[in-house]
Amino acid sequence: MTVHFIGAGPGAADLITLRGRDLIAASPVCLYAGSLVPKALLAHCPQGARIVNTAMLNLDEITDLIAAAHKAGEDVARLHSGDLSVWSAMGEQLRRLRALDIPYDVTPGVPSFAAAAATLGAELTLPGVVQSVVLTRVSGRASAMPETESLENFARTGAVLAIHLSVHVLEKVIAELSPHYGADCPVAVVWRASWPDERVVRATLGTLETALGTEMERTALILVGRSIGAEEFDESRLYSGDYDRRYRPVGAHPRFPETGA
Ligand SMILES: C[S@@+](CC[C@H](N)C(=O)[O-])C[C@H]1O[C@@H](n2cnc3c(N)ncnc32)[C@H](O)[C@@H]1O
Repeated sequence: MTVHFIGAGPGAADLITLRGRDLIAASPVCLYAGSLVPKALLAHCPQGARIVNTAMLNLDEITDLIAAAHKAGEDVARLHSGDLSVWSAMGEQLRRLRALDIPYDVTPGVPSFAAAAATLGAELTLPGVVQSVVLTRVSGRASAMPETESLENFARTGAVLAIHLSVHVLEKVIAELSPHYGADCPVAVVWRASWPDERVVRATLGTLETALGTEMERTALILVGRSIGAEEFDESRLYSGDYDRRYRPVGAHPRFPETGA
């Protein structure tokens, strides 16, 4: 018996890995975080599967369900939105399972920041402009931010910020970022990336509040940084015709003469 933690992706039912889909199909129990996991994924559950929305349960109750499945020798598919490495509450569940000696594995999923960037058609790390992306958030009721991880501190680096769980405090986000990035810095807000009702607003830090109006939906990512929508950037050396590399030796004396192809 194994508990399979599976990244369910950002929303579109076909943005799940084949491994994730197959594990759902092979597990007689499915626990899913109902607020963001697309219900269409539950169609992969085998007939007669026990399917539980854990949105209303606490950690003890979820652990009890898993322990009962373990006792019955039944595999569990545990679905969380996006990828499990960020804001999934997987860490605390894994710790409980380790304490109970219940086996588990983890299958990654498409994170929402990647889905939002895909919607924008954007490479966030453009050469000569930005080479780092910070996945972050502001403090919320459930989780306080460590003092050193303020938006201002990240803003000082000039990295692209993918700000999660924060669209409800947009004014504060804009106020903290504007002195560092400048009012003309491009920003995009993507709601429900990859869902059928996805929405996008592109603006600058200076125009964003007006551009957004009274949007209430909270499932949104704020992407801020100079690479968003940029046309002025360097071409990468990787595909440059004169760049001698292992898979494309160039010149009379290539650095990696034997490898080619
Ligand atoms: C609890 S976190 C889950 C993050 C998830 N584990 C991931 O990999 O993206 C929920 C937040 O992620 C962002 N989010 C999740 N799905 C999204 C989507 N489809 N479009 C835009 N933002 C999304 C929003 O900021 C939302 O408030």
